[in-house]
Amino acid sequence: MLDLVDRDYFTDHSILLDPYEYFEALREKGPIYRLPGRDIFMVTGFAESLEVLANTVEFSSVVCVGGPAAQMPFTPQGDDLTPQIEEHRTSFVGGDYLVARDDKAHTNSRALLSRLFMPSRLKANETYMTGLADGLIKGAVARGGVELITEIAVPFATLVIADLLGVPPDDRDHFMGVLAAGPPAGALDADDDAERPHPMEVMAGYFVNYLIDRKQNPRADVLTELATASYPDGTTPDVAELVRLSTFLFGAGQDTTAKLLGNAMRFLIEVPGLQAQLRADPSLLGAFLEEVLRLEGSTKMTSRIARKATTVGGVEIPVGTKVMVALAAANRDPRRWENPGAFVLNRPRIKENLAFGRGAHVCIGNPLARAEARIVFEKLFEHSSHVDFDAAAHGKPGNLKLDYEPSFIIRGLEKMQLTLTPR
Ligand code: HEM
Repeated sequence: MLDLVDRDYFTDHSILLDPYEYFEALREKGPIYRLPGRDIFMVTGFAESLEVLANTVEFSSVVCVGGPAAQMPFTPQGDDLTPQIEEHRTSFVGGDYLVARDDKAHTNSRALLSRLFMPSRLKANETYMTGLADGLIKGAVARGGVELITEIAVPFATLVIADLLGVPPDDRDHFMGVLAAGPPAGALDADDDAERPHPMEVMAGYFVNYLIDRKQNPRADVLTELATASYPDGTTPDVAELVRLSTFLFGAGQDTTAKLLGNAMRFLIEVPGLQAQLRADPSLLGAFLEEVLRLEGSTKMTSRIARKATTVGGVEIPVGTKVMVALAAANRDPRRWENPGAFVLNRPRIKENLAFGRGAHVCIGNPLARAEARIVFEKLFEHSSHVDFDAAAHGKPGNLKLDYEPSFIIRGLEKMQLTLTPR
């Protein structure tokens, strides 16, 4: 039997059930450790993760969608890979998405999106979220139970982004169906229906039409704002760039948020006394969600490639080497967090957890994701007096059967059948 550290994180299903055990085995090798026989360093240390995420000069994000184990589209040459990366960018999986961009191309595109996340827009979006969550949860409570992930979390997260972007209400249900049919980010298994167009392509078709229409017929809506936006230097993005940005938001914000809801629900049910405490004082929800994000954030990792030779935590990283930042492990680093495996409400400086990354690429949707989760739990408390696992689907406490999404990026339950007691 292979030692835990010798198992392949990128393909091994057994690591999915408990990636933390694997990360702890890696941590014993040091906060930054080169996988035997591979050009990948695994970073499990909190300080070392910050070092990588802050260093946008020597690291490129181009590998972060496809992951560090993906084949390189070129043979690295020289002591600065920037020109080669830019030449081959579109050959990297997702290399052209915002999260994978570097330097000015990244700051320019991020500036376009930031207008969507302005307080006034988020406030309007919050009104929509509250109504949506109310309807979904009320219906679930009336039925006495719900499959949280597919019946509440995914539709909720998808519709919230659709609303943020101003997708016409008539098209929203269709978007939901398209996205639900797609594979998760970082899927371990090949998509068994490769003939079917990828959800992002289907959505792109819609967004091209929206944006062309709004360029020609401006209205007072979010899509028009996006269609007529300009970069900070006054130049304007082409439609293809705007489409990529809009569709990427669904990819980045749908599954992650949906899975956070599931992970949070698990803690709510399993931590003794927690449900009663939060129901009695919902103002603790913010602190609760931060501790869930630390202990069980829905993004386990991200990655970078050293475009120049550098060091992390004093360890030399040769040019062309990939680095996997295990956010889930950094969030349990005992050098940063006291008693890291324990659920503790109101830890000091808990918001410094790395669930949303840090630095230039820090999750732009983090205020939205936090608000989404808070609102769902507020509505859950409003309409129900108790929530529990459905024993018929998951078995009894202490011996629960729960399946995690087979993804090396996403951490979250595939399904979660709940029973809901009305208030
Ligand atoms: C619990 C939910 C979420 C988690 C755990 C999460 C996590 C992350 C992480 C870790 C990154 C940084 C990746 C890196 O540095 O390589 C990121 C980036 C990003 N996230 Fe999120 N995210 C969540 C929800 C959302 C939502 C709701 C949206 C938008 C609607 C969103 C949009 C983005 C975008 C656009 C980026 C790229 C930012 C950039 O590269 O400048 N995310 N997210």
